[in-house]
Amino acid sequence: MDDHLVDSASGPVPALRWEEPPEGPVVVLLDQTRLPREEVELACTDVPALVSAIRCLAVRGAPLLGLAGAYGVALAAARGFDVEEAADQLAHARPTAVNLGYGVRRALEAYRAAGPEEAAAAALAEARALHAEDAAASTEMAARGLGLLEELAPGGSYRILTHCNTGALVSGGQGTALGVVLAAHRAGMLRRLWVDETRPLLQGARLTAYEAARAGMPYTLLADNAAGSLFAAGKVDAVLIGADRIAADGSTANKVGSYPLAVLARYHGVPFIVVAPSTTVDPATADGASIEVEQRPGNEVTDLAASPLGAQAYNPAFDVTPPELITAIVTENGVASPVTAASLASVGAQQTAR
Ligand code: MRU
Repeated sequence: MDDHLVDSASGPVPALRWEEPPEGPVVVLLDQTRLPREEVELACTDVPALVSAIRCLAVRGAPLLGLAGAYGVALAAARGFDVEEAADQLAHARPTAVNLGYGVRRALEAYRAAGPEEAAAAALAEARALHAEDAAASTEMAARGLGLLEELAPGGSYRILTHCNTGALVSGGQGTALGVVLAAHRAGMLRRLWVDETRPLLQGARLTAYEAARAGMPYTLLADNAAGSLFAAGKVDAVLIGADRIAADGSTANKVGSYPLAVLARYHGVPFIVVAPSTTVDPATADGASIEVEQRPGNEVTDLAASPLGAQAYNPAFDVTPPELITAIVTENGVASPVTAASLASVGAQQTAR
């Protein structure tokens, strides 16, 4: 393990957990803005604290945002806050990851359906159910994703490029794309994990590197703009990424910088694979143009680049990859390939709670 990683002898710190100390229930988050140098927990005792943790990316990544939303509703219910208002604030804390609104609605509907005496417990039970489902989906996606890799790139020794962070830090289980990478590593099939640093907030350099180091993976960091030269040198066997929202036509919103990787992958004949739970498939969003892409403050770019005072910055948090550039979408239900509205519908969630 790298020196700068904090001591993990006591085992991994969960990205999110529910606690009930005598002072009242609390949602405890591993503050991802402080990783990898410090493992610091944030205890959210009210909904505004959780909303601000979501906005500043202390808690982040589509599946984990779903859990944060669900536990946030449970927190409001348990502490006697206005649950409808809390649900609205949580659901709108960030716009792109569909899982956030989904998690909020799951817990809210359970709360509404229960009698007044049981409503808080029902919301918490639903959050816990979603947590368990997400962990189970991770396991299933890892198996299906590894199977797909073996089909697409036979040989059993993979050099995988990934973008952003998609592991245990964003999930109730081992994650999405990084969960597949971990399965490959454990099967002795991971030759190299190429980790895009993922500007401007460096989820790759900070968080994926943190998880890869802890798992003992052979990994190498690269500046995002170095990816082209890796493809040109024939050193990438597959690209694996997660997703924040997958529209009904298969258009996939993920961390900004994903789309250029898809273009590169197509040009170089490399499989480009999206791994996401079925809850990230959003049949209510028709196509890529209908996906709302979060715009983040310009200073996230200018601070990193130490730009002159007053410099304007363009800072979309996500970009959208069209289905024709995606080799396959893997969910816990199966593999959609080629990616079409019909193939996607067959692996998406059978959801009504939207
Ligand atoms: O802005 P972030 O860090 O929340 O963005 C996260 C991503 O783009 C992930 O790739 C995506 O949520 C999939 S996580 C399994």
